[in-house]
This record gives sequence, structure tokens and C-alpha cells, in this order.
Amino acid sequence: MSSITSSPNSLFLKNPILKTNNNFTQSPTFKLASPTKARPVSITCSSSVSQTQTHPSTQIHAQQPDRVFNFAAGPATLPEKVLLKAQSELYNWRGCGMSVTEMSHRGKEFKSIIEKAESDLRTLLNIPGEYSVLFLQGGATTQFAAVPLNLCTPDDSVDYLVTGSWGDKAVKEAQKYCKTNVIWSGKAEKYTKIPAFEGLEQNPDAKYLHICANETIHGVEFKDYPTAKNKTGILVADMSSNFCSKPVDVSKFGVIYAGAQKNVGPSGVTIVIVRKDLIGNAQTTTPIMLDYKIHSENNSLYNTPPCYCIYMCGLVFEYLLELGGLKEVEKMNENKAKLLYDAIDGSNGFYRCPVEKSVRSLMNVPFTLEKSELEGEFVKEAAKENMVQLKGHRSVGGMRASIYNAMPLAGVEKLVLFMKDFQAKHA
Ligand SMILES: Cc1ncc(COP(=O)(O)O)c(C=O)c1O
Repeated sequence: MSSITSSPNSLFLKNPILKTNNNFTQSPTFKLASPTKARPVSITCSSSVSQTQTHPSTQIHAQQPDRVFNFAAGPATLPEKVLLKAQSELYNWRGCGMSVTEMSHRGKEFKSIIEKAESDLRTLLNIPGEYSVLFLQGGATTQFAAVPLNLCTPDDSVDYLVTGSWGDKAVKEAQKYCKTNVIWSGKAEKYTKIPAFEGLEQNPDAKYLHICANETIHGVEFKDYPTAKNKTGILVADMSSNFCSKPVDVSKFGVIYAGAQKNVGPSGVTIVIVRKDLIGNAQTTTPIMLDYKIHSENNSLYNTPPCYCIYMCGLVFEYLLELGGLKEVEKMNENKAKLLYDAIDGSNGFYRCPVEKSVRSLMNVPFTLEKSELEGEFVKEAAKENMVQLKGHRSVGGMRASIYNAMPLAGVEKLVLFMKDFQAKHA
């Protein structure tokens, strides 16, 4: 339960940080990170997080002391600057007299927001002109059905390379709409590997080859992508949990889809990047909301889109560009992941990561304790230190640290220090 105390509206109106500004990078709101000025609403959660207990590893504060380091797999932590920017614009978006949540999706204000979000995403990922960018609803799970419905007939065959639970879910959903063929599955090895591409037996008649670029639960990530050796050459990727975490050559793919709630925004919007020549062949029974043609022709405005989520994604895209683009973002992610994997591998077996080293995810780091009976305590003690959501997925157990773009280096440093202290106590 949360108790929420809000200030009177007059406070919002008087608050200088809520003055509008059209320029993201030069907005004075970013300088006003002080919790007293920037937080007109105070929210207290009665969670397990204690603000009073301290520990040697809590000495690193690279973000506001009233925020935790959130290692959740998604919805996940967002850049603090983006949250503050959204806060400053929530009440009156850039002087238009209303919030983004109140705007017509057909008005000029929202049109400018969605166009800018698309344009910034195109810049970030260097998306070629022959691709449509769609902002849709229904999560990546809906794309498990939308992909086969748009790309093939019920009689067509398709190939799936299954490297974790999400790939498995994707193929099970696709079975309803076409003839699926799992060309490789890592299930027998508990989803810890990615096969060598040369040895894969692809069906030359398949309409597409589907992969999950980063398996969020198992922490397995493709470092390179297979070539689809089928008659169309179409490779489809679920990039939900590593979208915009590194540069990607979009031209290698027919379709890329990603739920936003890990790296680029709140839950509620799913981004689909689809090559334009693949649009327009949906099965006749395809629900209108799953038809790429409808959304592409209507610039993602066929019906009411998730306006606020799109706006938030737009702020994240601007922020990533400000950081220097995805090459820079990738370097930061590599740095954070190395720190954590090195700590695990250097623990003399106290901590273990089951994933084969060459395919370990930069985003989701699963690990177990040699003394598995201590895992509950690890998660509880970490939460006391304001490091939350470290419990592994219920299907695999252990721990998982999701260290998406927005997780500061300081968060990983603090976790590593905590892990060393924990080991020293319990070894
Ligand atoms: C890789 C991957 N694919 C698909 C999904 C399902 O996404 P959604 O919950 O947005 O439907 C998830 C969710 O965590 C995921 O991590």
C-alpha cells in the first residue's frame, strides 16, 4: 500500500521547474534534480526497503537518495533525467495548457511528439527508409501472433530458433497460424547456449526464421545474427529486452519487434520495425489491430495509441542521442556487464552464472549461489540496501540482475560490493 500526499495545485503553478521548455537538452528542468524542488508529490511505499539501514556498500550514491537501484526485468528502471523531464511536463506540456495524457492523438501537439519519437528512433538505429516504424499495443506477446499472421498463409512453413522461454512462447503462438518448425532448441541444456549458425538445418521453403535476440529470463543474447537461408531471406527478431542497447544493422531483418518496458519506456507500447515490402499480405482473418498495413498507412494512429507511453519513449530516444548514440550506450552496457560477470566468475564458485560465456547477455544477468539456501537472504539483504528486484524468474530461480541502459554504473558497482560483502559473511 502506498500513501500519497499531494501538494495543492497552486504549488505546481508556482513551481519554477514546471515552466515549459521546448528544448530537451537545454531544459532548465534537468538542472533541478533536487528532490525538494523537483518532487511536488511525495510518495511513501511500505516496502521492504529501509532508508535507515546502512552498509559499507551503500556509500556509492550516483542517483537521488530517495530512489532505489531497481534491477527488475521489466517494467524496469528509466533514466532519472527522463523521469524528471516527464514530471516537469506532466501538468502543462510545453505551454500548450494540457498534459500529454489529455491531448487528442489527432492534434498537432501529439502529432509532433510521435513524429519526433519516430525520427529520433530512426536516427538512433539508422533505420533505412524502406522500413516502417510502428508504435502498437498488446506487448511483444501480441507480436508472437501478428508476425505469422502478417508474413504467411496457414499453409506456409516457418523456422524458429529457440534459445529461451520467450522464443518458446513465440513458436507456440505461431503454431496456430502456420506450420512451425523448431530448427534448434536449447531447452535440454536449460537455455544456456546459442548454436553455431553453420550447422543449422534451415527449411529452404520457410517464410521466415525467427529468433529472440535476448532471452530475458535465461540471460542468453545473440552477439551476431544468423542469415535466413530460406526462400525469402527474412529474419525476424524479438528484441524486447535488448532494444536500443547497442547498434543493430536493421537491414538484416524483415521484422524487429520490442515491448518498450525494458530499455526504452513504460509498458503499454510495442515498437515494430518492418520492411515495407512485407506489409499488405496479412491473412484474411487477421484482426484489424494486428494488421501491419492498417497501422503503417495510418502512421500508428488508426485508433487511439498509447500516447503517454510513446511520449516517454520519445524522451528516452532523445536522451540516448544525447549520450552519444547507441555505440556509446553499448560501451556503457559492456562496462557494467563485465563488472558483474567478473565478480561472479571471480567468486571461486560462490556465485555462478550458468550461461556459456560467449553468449552472456549484457542486459539480464542470471546467477545462482553455491549455497542455494542463502538465496532468499541475499535478495532480502540487498533490498535493505535499496537494491530491489533481484530475485530470479520463478521458472528458473536463483537471482537475476537486469542492468538495462538506465541502470547507472553506480548501481552495478554497489551490487558487486554487496556481493563481495555477502560472500565474505557466508563463505
Ligand atoms: C524477450 C521478451 N519477449 C517477449 C516478452 C513479452 O512481452 P510483453 O509482456 O510485452 O507481451 C518479454 C517480456 O518480458 C520478453 O522479455
